[in-house]
Amino acid sequence: MTTIYLNGRFLPLEEASIPVMDRGFLFGDGVYEVIPVYSRRPFRLHEHLDRLQASLDGIRLANPHTAQEWESLIVRSVELAEGEDQGIYLQVTRGPGPRDHAFPNTVQPTVFILPLRITPPARELVDSGVAAISAADNRWLRCDIKSTSLLPNVLLRQLSVDAGCAETLLLRDGFLSEGSASNVFVVANGLLLAPPKSNLMLPGITYDVVLELAREHGIAHAVRPIDEAELRAAGEVWITSSTREVLAVTTLDGRPIGDGRPGPVFRRMYAAYQDYKHSVMRGKALP
Ligand SMILES: Cc1ncc(COP(=O)(O)O)c(C=O)c1O
Repeated sequence: MTTIYLNGRFLPLEEASIPVMDRGFLFGDGVYEVIPVYSRRPFRLHEHLDRLQASLDGIRLANPHTAQEWESLIVRSVELAEGEDQGIYLQVTRGPGPRDHAFPNTVQPTVFILPLRITPPARELVDSGVAAISAADNRWLRCDIKSTSLLPNVLLRQLSVDAGCAETLLLRDGFLSEGSASNVFVVANGLLLAPPKSNLMLPGITYDVVLELAREHGIAHAVRPIDEAELRAAGEVWITSSTREVLAVTTLDGRPIGDGRPGPVFRRMYAAYQDYKHSVMRGKALP
């Protein structure tokens, strides 16, 4: 049985319902987070809660909970869910109201927490890498908000599914922004490159971990715009996200990236990421 949290109560998923007039349902008027949980410890919890606050600020919705309240709700959700490794999905919407674009006079936000079963990518996938396609980034100009209005991301992601690929890499005005559900890194002439955070991409929590690990492990890197030619000529391309961790992209639009296998910088980063994750799980590093 899956136990979820909805507006002040933990209850079985099957018994949970929300009013059809919820603005999350009518307009996608809400924000969310996905927090990986390893050995029952939420990973980078404070960073996820800070990003939640930034998303709520971005949509002008007051945070219904303090950080301490969120933490206890999340800890309780983890206790109630099965599995040492899992994920916590949380969503806040602007709640029910008349079917009018303008905010309702009184806002009663809907708070929903759902435990997810998250399995890190299988070893074979890590060793083989994944295929990706590219597409024009036709989303709005506030991609830094982790909004539940995900229709453009859904359509872009489906393009890769239709092509039998794992991700769609997005190009806006000739520059790489991110993936449909991931951030993207490139290795060019041995230098790890990451697009700078801006309104055009989600500030990924995994993105930050990867840059921290690059600093710690002396992996040469730079944060700067990456143009389409650089992406296509890259020796390595990676995607990162809370659910996929760090994964090498080995073909783009049917053409091999580098020699078509995960590259040496990826292998170093993957090992560093796993070490870091395991030290967090053993309580030896701050989550
Ligand atoms: C559009 C988009 N970019 C980037 C990411 C990666 O963010 P994070 O590392 O915080 O999971 C996600 C995560 O799902 C995403 O949906």
